[in-house]
Amino acid sequence: MLDKYKREINYLRVSVTDRCNLRCIYCMPKEGLSLIGHDDILKYEEMLRVVRIAQKLGIVKVRVTGGEPLVRRGVTDFLAELGKTGLEDISLTTNGILLESFAGAIRRAGVCRINVSLDSLDPERYARITRGGRLSDVLRGLEEAERVGFSPIKINVVTVRGFNDDEALTFARLTLEKPYEIRLIELMPIGGEKGSDEKYVSNDELMERIARLGTLHPIERGKRERNFSGPARRFRLEGARGVIGFISPISHNFCHACNRLRLTADGGLRACLMVDGEIDLKGPMRSGCSDEELEQLILRAIVNKPLGQQKDGAADDRHRRKCVREMPTIGG
Ligand code: GTP
Ligand code: 5AD
Ligand code: SF4
Repeated sequence: MLDKYKREINYLRVSVTDRCNLRCIYCMPKEGLSLIGHDDILKYEEMLRVVRIAQKLGIVKVRVTGGEPLVRRGVTDFLAELGKTGLEDISLTTNGILLESFAGAIRRAGVCRINVSLDSLDPERYARITRGGRLSDVLRGLEEAERVGFSPIKINVVTVRGFNDDEALTFARLTLEKPYEIRLIELMPIGGEKGSDEKYVSNDELMERIARLGTLHPIERGKRERNFSGPARRFRLEGARGVIGFISPISHNFCHACNRLRLTADGGLRACLMVDGEIDLKGPMRSGCSDEELEQLILRAIVNKPLGQQKDGAADDRHRRKCVREMPTIGG
């Protein structure tokens, strides 16, 4: 299905909960967030209904996100049900804290790929960035994910100046030994600290630092990959097993190639991460709308998908959109 800017929309991100077992500084305020009430969170059957109808409109890839998806009870059964829908690609983004015990079950449920958020390889710093997380839990989770056969395993590193930008090189070096895809993500003006300017580091700067380790060979994408792959620009260091991806929403806007829709934990269909404005699907579903009516609502979200982060037509910073809604309900 094409939107009005001729972008093919084939990817739905489903946030199954706004709850999280961490409080990352760039994502949540210290005191946490006022959580969505239990009854206002979509039931798994409701999510599956949206997915099935979205499939008719061309969605072939679904990523399950949170908050932290693994804290919602019954998530592996939900993943198994998703696995039966005939989607081409089911993936999951997690903070990895519970991954060690879940990896096998997630894999058996039919998840093809996982992305793990991990912003520091130093235990104390990790605890500070996440406000209390234990790095060893995530590292054991990654080992287990590798052992049960996940490939690729992508590691998301949001860089915050003065906090972890000095670790870009350590993460880059990790790709020499491990088959991971490390993705350095520019801090966006969304969530906990609202990504203030002095905390932002551009990926061009990090790429320059990393290039001192060795030649960065760009990885070309085939046509199919271009259709499905996310916004990362990918490189391999000479001789490395893994890959380094740069996700640069601020310095290299990728909205023109955006293929995604988001279903929020409370049932809003959001056409753009950075532009507030959602179509409520929960209300109509709970008041008994038909599949055709639901399909029309999803279609409306696709057709009216905004151009993106930049106000349509405007290119300078003053017109950059800021997202008001907090990240954990949207799911990144
Ligand atoms: P795959 O390419 O399918 O592996 O996934 P992905 O990169 O889309 O998924 P992931 O959840 O790991 O996203 C990584 C991060 O990239 C997100 O948390 C955001 O920070 C950023 N990102 C992903 N999609 C978008 C998008 O549509 N717009 C913007 N501005 N940023 C995005
Ligand atoms: N800027 C960039 N990425 C963010 N994430 C959360 N908040 C932000 C932000 N302000 C990322 C997390 C996780 C994904 C789901 O969203 O690192 O990998
Ligand atoms: Fe897509 Fe919006 Fe992100 Fe741009 S900001 S890439 S349009 S979700």
